[in-house]
Amino acid sequence: MNKFSLKDKTILITGASSGIGRSCSVECSKSGASLILIARNEEELQKTLSLLAADTKAETIIADITQTENLEELIAEKVTTLGKISGFIHCAGIEKTLPLKKHNAQLYADIFAVNVISGFEIAKILSLKKYKNEISSFVFISSVAGMVGEIGKAAYSASKGAVVSGARSLAMELSRSGIRVNSVSPAMVNTPILEKMFENIGEDAAEEILKKHPLGIGQPEDVANACIFLLSDASKWITGSNMVVDGGYSAH
Ligand SMILES: NC(=O)c1ccc[n+]([C@@H]2O[C@H](COP(=O)([O-])OP(=O)(O)OC[C@H]3O[C@@H](n4cnc5c(N)ncnc54)[C@H](OP(=O)(O)O)[C@@H]3O)[C@@H](O)[C@H]2O)c1
Repeated sequence: MNKFSLKDKTILITGASSGIGRSCSVECSKSGASLILIARNEEELQKTLSLLAADTKAETIIADITQTENLEELIAEKVTTLGKISGFIHCAGIEKTLPLKKHNAQLYADIFAVNVISGFEIAKILSLKKYKNEISSFVFISSVAGMVGEIGKAAYSASKGAVVSGARSLAMELSRSGIRVNSVSPAMVNTPILEKMFENIGEDAAEEILKKHPLGIGQPEDVANACIFLLSDASKWITGSNMVVDGGYSAH
């Protein structure tokens, strides 16, 4: 038996319409998982569906995850169709690189709403017996920005630090329910979020960042592969950890 396989597992993934979340969806499908995919952009989610391994069972939820009122109802409906979930990847995220003087309470609130609160609210729903299998694994996508200081990232870094520390506490609380909880901290990965950031900071700053990655910038699959390991039975003794997937960025 391949312990790295996700066969017979249903995985719920936020941020599935783009970048790392799309890659997690595709790679999880290749590893045999059924999928519940969440994002707001229906067209882009359809594109993700078109990239999944043939015969993958997949359902989509078109929703803004910060509007949590009817999220449980939407998830319950998909669990009825696909079966109880064995895994969750919270990959939805927003990033803003702005000088501190341009930060305000609304910016912090908007970033925390997507990157932190919605992920933990979905984890709360999925931790209920009626929605999860006996053994489950939750993975939160954080960032090296949660560990290493970066100019212009006060709100974003704070949100990513919160993801790591919150996930660690969830690991303690949910272990008795058979749920492992870990985070993954990537450095720069080639996705639309990175393109936007590079546009904002200019060529020289972008060049500086690239130089700090001994193995170059990452591809979305590099992060997806770490998630697959943490969702699979091969990682059954790993909980409360933060897996750094950064091409050597934080080793400086
Ligand atoms: N790329 C990097 O270099 C990098 C590095 C470290 C960490 N990360 C983290 O990795 C994660 C994925 O990043 P990415 O680069 O793949 O970003 P991306 O390509 O911009 O994708 C972001 C995803 O989040 C979803 N999303 C955002 N707000 C949402 C909302 N209110 N409701 C539902 N979905 C929402 C978007 O879907 P819709 O717009 O369709 O709703 C999209 O699928 C993020 O948490 C990011 O912070 C990325």
